[in-house]
Amino acid sequence: MVHVNENFLKLPESYLFSEIARKVNEYQAAHPEADVIRMGIGDVTLPLPQAVIEALHKAVDDMANSNEFHGYGPEQGYAFLRDTIVRNDYTERGIEIHSDEVFISDGSKSDTGNFGDILGTDNIIAVTDPVYPVYVDTNVMGGRAGELLDGKWSEIVYLPCVSENGFVPSLPDRKVDVIYLCYPNNPTGTTLTREQLKVWVDYALENKALILFDAAYEAFVSDDTIPHSIYEVEGARKCAVEFRSFSKTAGFTGLRCGYTVVPKEVMAYRKDGERVMLNRLWNRRQCTKFNGTAYIIQRAAEAVYSKEGKAQIREMLNYYMNNARVMKEGLLAAGLEVFGGDNAPYLWLKTPKGISSWTFFDRLLHELNIVGTPGVGFGPSGEGYFRLTAFGDKARTAEAMERIRTWKI
Ligand code: MLT
Repeated sequence: MVHVNENFLKLPESYLFSEIARKVNEYQAAHPEADVIRMGIGDVTLPLPQAVIEALHKAVDDMANSNEFHGYGPEQGYAFLRDTIVRNDYTERGIEIHSDEVFISDGSKSDTGNFGDILGTDNIIAVTDPVYPVYVDTNVMGGRAGELLDGKWSEIVYLPCVSENGFVPSLPDRKVDVIYLCYPNNPTGTTLTREQLKVWVDYALENKALILFDAAYEAFVSDDTIPHSIYEVEGARKCAVEFRSFSKTAGFTGLRCGYTVVPKEVMAYRKDGERVMLNRLWNRRQCTKFNGTAYIIQRAAEAVYSKEGKAQIREMLNYYMNNARVMKEGLLAAGLEVFGGDNAPYLWLKTPKGISSWTFFDRLLHELNIVGTPGVGFGPSGEGYFRLTAFGDKARTAEAMERIRTWKI
């Protein structure tokens, strides 16, 4: 008799963004005339930069030519891309990272979700709350979460990030082994300074803990006091793994490419205390379970770092951050309390009059035809909050703000 992994049965029936898509599709089917503006899932709307398109065309032509054809690639990614990443994202910023510490993948969602494969099931996991649901759901699947009681997993340590603490998580009051940090933060759009991040690096070093640092939104940082990488903090090479993505930086949500940095100094421990290099285990895991990102996609990612690519991407990022500015001004003008949106493409607002996150979602959809994401979907401390993304079309974003401004909440 075949048995299921019963951990999967503990999960809520559907993934947050699938549930939202279902509700929106249902509404749209019942109201085909409704002009719905989507500011829910953080999916980009601008087409790919020209430099990326040209690299894709060229790479497709390579595949038609017997001298340039590429079959199975290295599971870790091609050297041309790993070297380019190291030079541009790390060396030029004064950070020591080596090419064999970089693993190219199909995106950070997969990597943050899969990383648990190489970690023991008895680790105590800490997450900031609210949090990107992938970190929690994959630990449920991996058997590290315990039971769901009143919206919280019994074995997960939640680090509340709310307006009262300025969305800065405090150190846990019990010892934890793995800490997920995402900065600039999804969903709150808030950031940590180098000093605030150092508190976590010091904690991890003292407690032999591991930080899984999701930097998918680093390209949106414009303030110099905010780190782009956790490796800007001394000691992080010994305790942190970093996830990066081309999805939001370069419009790759439909192409799929990201990378994970696992420095060779990052260790985990066997039960007998012997140290094990996580770089070696992640490499082993990828070689077995992942056949590499497609050659043409890696060539497209390489083009992101060309002179033209960099300029075109800057323009895209400015476009989205201009949306974020318009949104912040619009929401404030509507009398709402708003956070984030300065160095991140997400705006996090407090629902007015104590309205619950899901009621706010329903009212926004039904009364204004705007889709957002209920804060509680990201964790219990997200109740009473709501997320909007800045990845929309400029005119539609302005239209959404106009609808909110004149709304009788
Ligand atoms: C989000 O909306 O939180 C993200 O777009 C989802 C993702 O990157 O998987």
